[in-house]
Amino acid sequence: MNDNTNMKPVNTTDNQVLVIFGANGDLSHRKLLPALYNLFYDNLLPEKFAVIGSGSDPKTEQTFRQEIKEQLTVYAPHTAENSPEKLTEFLKLLYYKPVNNKVKEDFAGLNACIDEVCASLDIPRNVIYYFSIPPFMYEVVNSHLVSYGMNKEEDGWKRIVVEKPFGYSYDSAVELDQKLHHGFGEHQIYRIDHYLGKETVQNIMVTRFSNGFFEPIWNRRYVDRVEITSAENIGVGKRGGYYDTSGAMRDMIQNHLLQVLAIVAMEPPAVFDSDSIRNESVKVLQALRPISEEEVEKYVIRGQYLQTTSNDELIQGYRQEKDVAPGSKTETYVAMKVFVDNWRWGDVPFYIRTGKRLPERVTEVVLYLKPAPLQLFKEANVSRFANKITLRIHPDAGIAVDFGMKIPGAGYKVQNVNMDFHYSDLAEVNIPEAYERLLLDCMIGDSTLYARADAVHASWKFVDPILKAWKENPDVPLYFYESNTWGPVEANQLFENKAIKWVSPCGKFKCSNQQ
Ligand code: BG6
Repeated sequence: MNDNTNMKPVNTTDNQVLVIFGANGDLSHRKLLPALYNLFYDNLLPEKFAVIGSGSDPKTEQTFRQEIKEQLTVYAPHTAENSPEKLTEFLKLLYYKPVNNKVKEDFAGLNACIDEVCASLDIPRNVIYYFSIPPFMYEVVNSHLVSYGMNKEEDGWKRIVVEKPFGYSYDSAVELDQKLHHGFGEHQIYRIDHYLGKETVQNIMVTRFSNGFFEPIWNRRYVDRVEITSAENIGVGKRGGYYDTSGAMRDMIQNHLLQVLAIVAMEPPAVFDSDSIRNESVKVLQALRPISEEEVEKYVIRGQYLQTTSNDELIQGYRQEKDVAPGSKTETYVAMKVFVDNWRWGDVPFYIRTGKRLPERVTEVVLYLKPAPLQLFKEANVSRFANKITLRIHPDAGIAVDFGMKIPGAGYKVQNVNMDFHYSDLAEVNIPEAYERLLLDCMIGDSTLYARADAVHASWKFVDPILKAWKENPDVPLYFYESNTWGPVEANQLFENKAIKWVSPCGKFKCSNQQ
């Protein structure tokens, strides 16, 4: 018998360097470096690897490392506190190069720095450039990289990771693509949408395509409607400046929620590879029934949170947030009804909603199944839509199936019950953060979970008329809602059947609301 106990897993990921533009920013501190540290902790980083933090602040490597150490104790507390030795080792992988992204000449210095780091590690120049910077700087940084030939692949591969928002509209997204394509081929561009990196979002595909019993009912014959909710209890915090030019439609719907919808609605791919999966999901986005500017009021409800007092604490309204225009009409809540015009989903409404300052942070997809054709049990204590499948993305990730059961005793009283699976029940399973998965995929060169240009274009094409109507037509209402409530009641108008209303999801499956 072989004794494998002393064998380390072979890490086949290419040796490489990751350059983070915007290394002193919020995303880098809260998500990117903690994700890298967790990968390091789990021995998943390439054998030879370095991070070059790039930012406009002049500071030494020592200071940068010290700052990151402090951030990791906040944002990766378990792994950081578990092993101080590992943390010290990880910090040694970090370098810092001051770069003003607007100054072309600074890129000569960055280029030399990459050379030095690669030479000291004795590795080819395989480099990922992560654009964790304001979107208007993407094309500037891109053109500076190209000026110094830092996109060329003769001495090793080069990839860029571009954060959302990718463009501001369909036209600007196409233009941005053209600019990036001047220096980088499509195979080198990784458009990140962190929802696709969520383990539980990927699990939607596994649920659908690895089980024989979900797929036959996953269509217009059995599904009455689909609801996709991403609720947040936080407000815009320090991001008022960005958010006020973006709003919930650009911040959450155009990217995250339409990508989730695409995964819920897509056809099974012929094989499970990057192109096939992305080919199928883009078809869904291309099949979204357009909402014309005139139809916006009927299909889309927008809202904005108001100041409120909760437990004697004053919660600021959106217009009082820092860097938000006092009379801003930016939406912090969107609920909408969309249709996927294809054979599988023809006429099944998909209701999508997202909002800030709602009572809870919950992301979930619920498929309401059509009622049984004949209601035999009149003494039922259940709704017509007793059967539903809930795919809970966050929190308490898992799946629940609801159905009617006989209440023990005389007669035929029926009650709704549910069978549920919680990820937390999988012993010792630590669900990796989306950024861990996505960073690792980019290092490996797997773009399956990154958005492709055609998908980004298709979703912009869909939301553009809505944004235009809001911008140009003052008659389209903006509904206000108090913080800590489930958004404007007008969102219920989206349901044709007046007996149906948005239900408030709650943290645990067991207490899920009945319709
Ligand atoms: C980001 C948005 O992309 O996603 C934020 O810019 C939002 O406004 C966040 O808060 C939500 O992500 P998650 O993973 O917390 O659901």
